[in-house]
Amino acid sequence: MPLEKMKAAWIPRFGGPEVLEIREIVRPVPSPDSVLVRVRAAGLNRADLLQRQGKYPPPPGYPAEMPGIEFAGEVAETGAQVRSWKKGQRVFGLTGGAAHAEYLAIHERLIAEIPPNLDWKQAAAVPEVFITAHDALWQQAELRRGETVLVNAVGSGVGIAAVQLARAMNARAFGVSRTPEKIEQAKQYGLADGIALRDNLDELAAAAERWTAGKGFDVFLDLVGGSYPSTVQTMMALKGRMIFIGTMAGSRYELDARYLMSKRLCLRGTVLRSRTLEEKIAVTQSFAREVLPVLANGTLRPVLDSVFSLGEIVKAHERLESNQTFGKVVIEI
Ligand SMILES: NC(=O)c1ccc[n+]([C@@H]2O[C@H](COP(=O)([O-])OP(=O)(O)OC[C@H]3O[C@@H](n4cnc5c(N)ncnc54)[C@H](OP(=O)(O)O)[C@@H]3O)[C@@H](O)[C@H]2O)c1
Repeated sequence: MPLEKMKAAWIPRFGGPEVLEIREIVRPVPSPDSVLVRVRAAGLNRADLLQRQGKYPPPPGYPAEMPGIEFAGEVAETGAQVRSWKKGQRVFGLTGGAAHAEYLAIHERLIAEIPPNLDWKQAAAVPEVFITAHDALWQQAELRRGETVLVNAVGSGVGIAAVQLARAMNARAFGVSRTPEKIEQAKQYGLADGIALRDNLDELAAAAERWTAGKGFDVFLDLVGGSYPSTVQTMMALKGRMIFIGTMAGSRYELDARYLMSKRLCLRGTVLRSRTLEEKIAVTQSFAREVLPVLANGTLRPVLDSVFSLGEIVKAHERLESNQTFGKVVIEI
């Protein structure tokens, strides 16, 4: 039988958005414990931009030429041992790569059912940002009701998911962005207050004092790196948790043991993509248990910045790279 073909985004060589191509390649075949998903929409992420630039190779087993780490679509085929999914079910999830394509083969325990209230585009805007923020805030930082959270790059996909997850926990989220409009937009999703700052973070100290009544932040979700960690360590509450997720402004910073020790701070670095299959299954299943119900009842809302077709993949990368986005860039496939 001839192998079936599909269209996929392709990185023929490392470089800017202009290097991207759409190629016709062989469709994957699901292994016995996997399903084949007909991808209908997929989110675009910083990881895809970095992969295209040659700075973030995908984990073993995923081709370096094929970007795409999240997807929403319908089950097209099931492997011989798959019992939990049927053809036609609407599913979404995270993968190590190759999701910007018409078809994707994925382990059956790495997908979750899309709530009926979300269309393909909305569903595609969920997995990466809500799984990352849920794992960081609810699981690792053990955020509790009444606590305060500081989120930088608050208009980012992960940032705005974190704001909503904080509100859903009855915690208060405060945010920083370089773009003042994004602070105002984030307030519509539950941001208690925020401040627009660029390179100079001096004004953050007074804001932190005001927002937390002098107690300091219980949790800091660092999506930016650069000068943030060393600045914010002085603004943490006793037993505060600093969770390091991104390095857009740089990966080197100085922390001072005086603050870490006297405040008994907990520091956590985290990344999803390189986790083992078992760890990814665990994170997907806890997302399905704890986040899906709140997505289904409309408490949490996917935030779409813009939608492009697969043929407009270059434009989609340019849009995300512009740093002008609020929420997610999604590709319809
Ligand atoms: N560890 C993990 O598992 C994991 C998972 C997902 C994402 N991440 C990381 O989390 C971060 C956010 O991801 P995302 O997909 O939500 O981002 P996004 O939607 O692409 O938004 C990023 C925003 O960050 C701001 N920004 C960009 N460069 C900056 C800089 N040098 N200094 C300060 N702000 C800057 C920009 O907004 P303004 O300039 O308007 O503020 C930009 O729009 C990224 O670092 C990403 O790599 C990590």
